[in-house]
Amino acid sequence: MALYHYNRKQRLLLASFALLFLLLLGLCHFWSARDPGSYFFQPNEGYRPEYSVQRIHESLEWLSAFNQSGSSASSHATPGISPPRAKTACVGIVTVKRPLQQDLDTTVGSILDTLTPDQRAALTVQVLFALSDPSAHPDYNQTWVNNVVDRVLTYDDLADAPGWIILNLEKKKNIKKKSLIDYRLGLQACYDMTDAPWIIMLEDDVVAQRNWYEHTMRSVQQIEEWRRHDAIKDWLYVRLFYTEKFLGWNSENWPVYLAWSVLVVSVCASAGIYVRRAARPAQGVLTNPFLLVLCGICVPLLIGLFFLAGRLTWFPLQDGIHVMNAHGCCSQALLFNRENVPALLEYLEYMEDVVPTKAVDSVIEMLAARADLDRLAISPSQMQHVGAASYKEKKKSWKWEGPYRVKGAHGVWSMGFEKAYRGESTGHGRLDLDGAV
Ligand SMILES: *[C@@H]1O[C@H](CO)[C@@H](O)[C@H](O)[C@H]1NC(C)=O
Ligand SMILES: *[C@@H]1O[C@H](CO)[C@@H](O)[C@H](O)[C@H]1NC(C)=O
Repeated sequence: MALYHYNRKQRLLLASFALLFLLLLGLCHFWSARDPGSYFFQPNEGYRPEYSVQRIHESLEWLSAFNQSGSSASSHATPGISPPRAKTACVGIVTVKRPLQQDLDTTVGSILDTLTPDQRAALTVQVLFALSDPSAHPDYNQTWVNNVVDRVLTYDDLADAPGWIILNLEKKKNIKKKSLIDYRLGLQACYDMTDAPWIIMLEDDVVAQRNWYEHTMRSVQQIEEWRRHDAIKDWLYVRLFYTEKFLGWNSENWPVYLAWSVLVVSVCASAGIYVRRAARPAQGVLTNPFLLVLCGICVPLLIGLFFLAGRLTWFPLQDGIHVMNAHGCCSQALLFNRENVPALLEYLEYMEDVVPTKAVDSVIEMLAARADLDRLAISPSQMQHVGAASYKEKKKSWKWEGPYRVKGAHGVWSMGFEKAYRGESTGHGRLDLDGAV
């Protein structure tokens, strides 16, 4: 099929296709730079922190006002005064010592800094310092902790915390099993110490968007509305953070992708043959060898480019609530439905002794699958994961790597979060009564 087999018009068409294809390649390079499932993904673009840097700054600034001894009388933090019952949500944070940097202050600051007094009163914030010697945690002695957090917990405060097991796990550096126990204890503490219908479990290295509380509560109301009308199944959690990393093309769907590709090629071939029959001038162009190149090379090249550009480039998640029963990752920020928490607690405890030990998020998924519970996600993410490192990775030494100080370890990062809330007003404590449930 050398080029001299083709007439002038055909050669012109092929050259135009080549140009078009190059143009599309250039566009994909630009369009898909932030789609982690794309061949054209550029880490420096996708992982560039923008909104989260602003939020970290804001929340630390807010928190610093509570960081002086004697500032506890301030209006926001009224620990011990507000009744522990009749809460809307309990925020449970389990914190451990991390390499490089602690982000607990950012996490706590960013979930509280924009709340109205009513919203603040509807929340209980509990932080479990998950170390057998809590004073070894750099934040344990910080003044803001007691001024802002409703309940500061250590293993000693939890009746069923198995002290010697924890010590042993710390000694053996069995972080996986300890994470399972810690997660259960944090969840249990929220369940036992409040009657909140929603229990929000956060890792100690997330940052929340300015309007997270209102948005989340409105979403949960919507979900409950659907539930009452049987539009969705019973549900275990709503994901307040997800990474787009695992939402690309899925290898298990290859038969679907193949079928569509074959269909597209067949339609092109049929269309070519039809046009050749119907339109006289096309007869000199749409010859058999030319159609062969068109359907055998050009169209497959376009299909290939389509897939390389990445699934989210073509089908981004719409803003709103999604059922995300597969490929949702990870457990940085989940809002649990109180009704199903006892089953999860029981399952977490059971899984603590199963070898090999599973990660917390896998265990949660396993329970949801067993109990046939839906898992939902709010898009865009309400929180971002900004922890640069954790001791879960077994490294010899720790140092800052890559171009950004604010980043999610292992690329556990929400690309959407950084762009979704741009251009928002920076007004603190805005009053919006719809949000208060
Ligand atoms: C609180 O004060 C301590 C000691 O001065 C300081 O190290 C820490 O960074 C402060 N934290 C915040 C959130 O301002
Ligand atoms: C916290 O305070 C206690 C008592 O004041 C002290 O012994 C301990 O070393 C402090 N820990 C840190 C991390 O500053």
